Amino acid sequence: MKVLIIGSGGREHAIAKKMLESPKVTDVFCAKGNPGMKKDGIQRLDIAEDDHEALISFAKEQGIAWTFVGPEIPLLNGIVDDFQKAGLKIFGPNRAAAMIEGSKEFAKKLMVNNQIPTAEYEAFTDYEAACAYVREKGAPIVIKADGLAAGKGVTVALTLDDALQALKEMMTDHRFGESGDKVVVEEFLAGEEFSLLAFVKDEEVYPMVIAQDHKRAYDGDQGPNTGGMGAYSPVPQISSEIVTSALEKIVKPAALGMIKNDTPFTGILYAGLIATEKGPKVIEFNARFGDPETQVVLPRLTSDLAQIIDDLLNNCKPELTWSERASVGVVLAAEGYPNDYKKGMDIPTFNDQVTVYYAGVADKNEAIVASGGRVLLVEAEADTIEAAQKKVYQALDEATTKNYFYRRDIGDKSK
Ligand code: AMP
Ligand code: GLY
Repeated sequence: MKVLIIGSGGREHAIAKKMLESPKVTDVFCAKGNPGMKKDGIQRLDIAEDDHEALISFAKEQGIAWTFVGPEIPLLNGIVDDFQKAGLKIFGPNRAAAMIEGSKEFAKKLMVNNQIPTAEYEAFTDYEAACAYVREKGAPIVIKADGLAAGKGVTVALTLDDALQALKEMMTDHRFGESGDKVVVEEFLAGEEFSLLAFVKDEEVYPMVIAQDHKRAYDGDQGPNTGGMGAYSPVPQISSEIVTSALEKIVKPAALGMIKNDTPFTGILYAGLIATEKGPKVIEFNARFGDPETQVVLPRLTSDLAQIIDDLLNNCKPELTWSERASVGVVLAAEGYPNDYKKGMDIPTFNDQVTVYYAGVADKNEAIVASGGRVLLVEAEADTIEAAQKKVYQALDEATTKNYFYRRDIGDKSK
């Protein structure tokens, strides 16, 4: 089989690398991919993610067995609808189903209609009304831009002033463009966060092992929200009872709710959850693999990822098996990220105890250089989280990382 992956980040690097491990797969193309992927035999395709016509022509000419979509934006642009219309197989939700991620309000309605536990909320398009609600509820309170904002459209406001400031930035200063014209204001949920991802085909749900992301830029969950600074799996402080409850009360009802809604979901369903005193509650749904969760979850998959996708697309039951080992992944980011950041630095080399997944890198002559905020992720597996942390941090500490930064506490919450 030849397969095509849409996307260009560390998540897509991990997906493509795993696909290539399949004895059934001869070629993996990634559009557009990044130059760091070449070392693993992944072929880059110079076609833009939103050029559906050119991607479809390529898939037809090359006899691509199926296409897998990494990021949310192509899903919301209807890439799945377009490929299916052209008679091609593609794994991911269509545009209507991707709204589970594309609109916070759509997701909230789905949860309310299906008794899925989540934070109490109210949606606003009127700035004064939003301010009045926030004053009435008080802090801590959470303000979210309704549309996509690259993981940065959320303010967890610990004071009333911060909450009002966030509303002003989103609704009157248009910091996130149109995404902030509508905001969702929701109850603050206290508890430990975890991510539960599942392969979903309409009502069928096949869960993955859980992971924990670290969204804040600096150690101890300080600093601004980012796209994710590191992750680890398993998450031993989240009991298997909590995971089972999340699966039964959240993920399965969501899949069924999407069918009832006439927006049946096929693809990767990502539930971002908080383990509250009253059980797991949803903070967000995504319509795709998480980044950087994927880079620590897929290394633990011991069955064949390409076979799983092939089975789901052909209405067969997939086989999922997982390693007991722990995986830790730490993002190496450019100094300044998530605000203006440095570019053009050399890419450090790392020892052979770790796997490197590239994200924000570009070609420069024969070499690659840093070009994005999250440049790469260093991952290692070991029998325990502590041992995996040791490998990752040893590799990072040995490397030359001037003009970069990384968190030093990825995995510490498991202790
Ligand atoms: P999101 O983009 O929705 O994942 O939110 C970004 C981060 O904000 C999450 O990873 C949480 O740490 C935090 N967050 C979002 N919603 C809530 C909530 N209702 N209560 C507490 N923290 C939240
Ligand atoms: N790691 C969070 C996300 O992918 O949205």
